Amino acid sequence: MDRDQAMAIVDEMLTDPNLKKHCLAVEAIMRALARHFEADEDEWGLVGLLHDADYEVTEKDPDRHMHVIVERVRAEGVSERIVQGILAHGGLAPLDNKLNASIFACDHLSGLITAYALLHPKGLAGVKTKGVLKRFRQTAFARGVDRDDILTCEPNLGLPLAEFVTIGVEAMKGIREDLGL
Ligand SMILES: [Fe+2]
Ligand SMILES: [Fe+2]
Repeated sequence: MDRDQAMAIVDEMLTDPNLKKHCLAVEAIMRALARHFEADEDEWGLVGLLHDADYEVTEKDPDRHMHVIVERVRAEGVSERIVQGILAHGGLAPLDNKLNASIFACDHLSGLITAYALLHPKGLAGVKTKGVLKRFRQTAFARGVDRDDILTCEPNLGLPLAEFVTIGVEAMKGIREDLGL
């Protein structure tokens, strides 16, 4: 599966523009992490782009979240690594490799950066690592963002939180126009 085919699935399954932007943000961070770990950037990007593609169709039946998209992409012949990566973001596959651990940790990081960019007077362009770290510590800010999930970057990826945040911020800045931030 190439990126265009994955994007077509996302366009077909998701109508909420914010959900699509979330998938794009996670894709960008996953690609950056793949570069950092000298892994397969296209493969990791597909995991990020596809991970929440079935979010809307499973909204009323959250137990099916991930299963619908996994069934779809399996039928299209994607690698088992991509399948396991998608499952890992929701805790349905072990975080025992860098790909799985990356998608798990960066899913919520994208949310924290987005929430901060939305209230920053300069938007994403004005977002710096220091500011994100400050918001990270303010547990009342963006309550839905699971700080513990983000912090798994340290034991599982060997990336100090600040470095992980920097990778996320720079990756999202790279697609700032697509994100409308
Ligand atoms: Fe999800
Ligand atoms: Fe997600």
